[in-house]
Amino acid sequence: MPNAIDATLIPGDGIGPEIVEATVAALDALGSPFRWERQIAGLDGMRRAGDPLPAATIESIKRTRLALKGPLETPSGGGWRSSNVRLREEFKLYANLRPARTLVPGGRFENVDLVVVRENLEGLYIGHEHYIAIDDDPHAVAIATGVNTRRGCRRLLEYAFEYAISAGRKKVSIVHKANIMKALTGIFLETGVDLYERKYKGKFALDTVIIDACAMKLVQNPWQFDVLVTTNLFGDILSDLVAGLVGGLGLTPGANIGADAAIFEAVHGSAPDIAGKGIANPTALMLAAAMMLDHCGLQDRAALLRRSIDATLNVDEVRTGDLGGRHTTAQFTHALVERIAAG
Ligand code: NAI
Repeated sequence: MPNAIDATLIPGDGIGPEIVEATVAALDALGSPFRWERQIAGLDGMRRAGDPLPAATIESIKRTRLALKGPLETPSGGGWRSSNVRLREEFKLYANLRPARTLVPGGRFENVDLVVVRENLEGLYIGHEHYIAIDDDPHAVAIATGVNTRRGCRRLLEYAFEYAISAGRKKVSIVHKANIMKALTGIFLETGVDLYERKYKGKFALDTVIIDACAMKLVQNPWQFDVLVTTNLFGDILSDLVAGLVGGLGLTPGANIGADAAIFEAVHGSAPDIAGKGIANPTALMLAAAMMLDHCGLQDRAALLRRSIDATLNVDEVRTGDLGGRHTTAQFTHALVERIAAG
């Protein structure tokens, strides 16, 4: 393939292989620029290589600096540490960009178009946790430490502010809990306001909002927001919340952007309840592929993919069960490929 872009492809767990296959078919129909290196991770990595993030997968991403991945299963409570968190740390993927846009009218809200920018490496996600035993209870006390650094906050906030400008966004809201976690989230708020005053004033409006109030306001009137930028845990929760505003997890993509690589994925997980049934909605991962095309400077192909997804859902009305439809993953993909071919 002349001028092909090397990229790592991780099918992942549960519905992962089904939606990855559908996404690769859509990219092929567009004239895919990618030359895939297929690798494993998550439960699949554990089963086949004894490691949820095998060295070969890390080596591949080190080479390509670009990956499209299906969801990876992480056991709750015990078991191994999340491969997603390890990937973010390994490749310093400090920014997680999660756009949520209404694609199918008739849902809870019309015309929602929001972006959550989540800090991806710090906060309460660093995994510094331990128990203290008391008497015969080894887990009598659970302790977690959160860490936010000035440098980490600034890097993420700068990314969010630059994104807002390049995407023509009008307002950025810094979401925090600095009234209670005065140090841990106060540093994020303070760094953001200071950065705005010094470098970005007048380029877009800045707003600050406490996480709990933000959750309520989003549900009452999502149109008052544009770009939301926040720390790791709040960003994780808010991005699922905004996914719910636009019709569910089947429609929301995510990009993990870092100094050493960029990894694109759906916001949702491996959906073990529907895995192998052929009914998963591949749209979120396809939209992640559109973000990946944008990232590679291939805006035309990204736009054609997004337009074709819109038309498949709303003109052809081919929809999977999570959107109230009755089509399978394969039927959706077939209809989409026809739309792409029609231009
Ligand atoms: P989930 O997102 O997998 O599923 C939640 C609900 O949404 C389920 O009812 C599922 O059927 C439905 N759903 C999700 N994606 C769908 C799609 N594309 N089409 C139709 N329905 C869809 O969340 P859950 O069950 O909490 O997590 C399952 C596993 O996924 C866990 O092991 C978790 O750690 C992992 N996970 C991985 C992520 C990643 O790799 N980025 C992100 C979130 C969870």
